[in-house]
Amino acid sequence: MARASTVFVCSACGATSSKWSGRCEACGAWNTIHEERATSGPPAKALDRNKGRTVPLTDLSHAEAPPPRTASRLDELDRVLGGGLVPGSAILVGGDPGIGKSTLLLQGAAAFAGSGLRTVYISGEEASAQVRMRAERLGLSDAAVRLGAETNLRDILATLEAERPDLVIIDSIQTMWADTVDSAPGSVSQVRAAAHELTSFAKKRGAAVVMVGHVTKDGQIAGPRVVEHMVDTVLYFEGERGHQFRILRSVKNRFGPADEIGVFEMTGGGLSEVPNPSALFLSERGQPAPGSVVFAGIEGTRPVLCELQALVAPTPQSQPRRSVVGWDGGRLAMILAVLESRCGIPFTGLDVYLNVAGGMKIGEPAADLAVAAALLSAREDVAVPAETVVFGEISLSGALRPVTQTENRLKEARKLGFTAAIAPRGGKAGDASGLSLTQMGDLTSFVGEIFGA
Ligand code: TYD
Ligand code: MG
Repeated sequence: MARASTVFVCSACGATSSKWSGRCEACGAWNTIHEERATSGPPAKALDRNKGRTVPLTDLSHAEAPPPRTASRLDELDRVLGGGLVPGSAILVGGDPGIGKSTLLLQGAAAFAGSGLRTVYISGEEASAQVRMRAERLGLSDAAVRLGAETNLRDILATLEAERPDLVIIDSIQTMWADTVDSAPGSVSQVRAAAHELTSFAKKRGAAVVMVGHVTKDGQIAGPRVVEHMVDTVLYFEGERGHQFRILRSVKNRFGPADEIGVFEMTGGGLSEVPNPSALFLSERGQPAPGSVVFAGIEGTRPVLCELQALVAPTPQSQPRRSVVGWDGGRLAMILAVLESRCGIPFTGLDVYLNVAGGMKIGEPAADLAVAAALLSAREDVAVPAETVVFGEISLSGALRPVTQTENRLKEARKLGFTAAIAPRGGKAGDASGLSLTQMGDLTSFVGEIFGA
């Protein structure tokens, strides 16, 4: 009799090994190795030469050209998808529990159904009655969406084969259970198997499949990274607790630009779109205060203005605090070091707090100069003029580097009533009329100009 063997699988990268260890040898992650039952492979079958047949590349552009995208007419969702839903695509939507993934996808399902797609929403987490109640609350009770409450993958696939939908939503991939895999739902092998089956279904039948994935504490979609490689598009739904804003961000998209964002607001009646996020992110801004600076950023293809807030205070501790929300802590340390060694402005003995207002997360190095301005403004207790936006990358030498899309940033600033901008020298400003633009080459002249130091 065959012995049931076990393997050890890394939940971060999916690598397998025959023994447990504290650290994955493949990806170097700690405490990610879990024991799972080994899967028995598919039964051996006779080779079939027709199965793997190739076709000329040029053929694809004729007979099998993909049908056009379908738009949901929820603009924020369509933009993140790259202009709409591509038939046959597999999409993974990750996010913290409770952030609003099910709400987003139910609203999305109703919108796509309204655009003529046959849509099926399969919930493995809630009963159909619960989903229906949510739909009622969202004012979607008469949407042409079919509901299913099922977790057995084989049953789900059988249903889908019979119903042939254009769009399938699986909420969530961690609750799906393939009976060919001998481990618990949510385990690496199960998640991988389910994602694989569903992705194959999408490709084979030309249906778009959207899978919800919960995110672990360190912000990765639970289950192996291989799931992210399997699908065509990976979206993250983000937001801070206590804030109403939710940001849908594409981190990978085979059918459109990555790093695109869609902005929503969570209300009592579900998610509503925010067509002008800059206005929203700046709406909480009060009187000009020391430490507050408006950064003109770019998210994907769209300019977004947001407020950076810094607080600098003498520390009672021997080791001063560096605390940052919405930006990269390592980058903050770099800016502090450049200010100290290139401009002679030390932050020793001072606690430094940096916050991006509104729960926004910024990844662009173009925020460097705005961060430096916020830090200096807080340290010197001098407010940066309220009608000014700031952007630019800072190099270790203290030089300011031009950033992409200078013109778009300036246009957005002007649209929102700003009258001045500070940017690195060399960026293509284009038509900056109506805005007084100051372009500088290095951080020292910036410090001199704004803070007279
Ligand atoms: P949900 O979509 O269930 O989150 P997820 O699927 O990511 O776990 O949303 C959960 C939260 O959203 C819940 O705390 C309540 C809130 N919510 C609203 O504020 N308004 C609404 O209309 C709905 C449906 C939910
Ligand atoms: Mg949910």
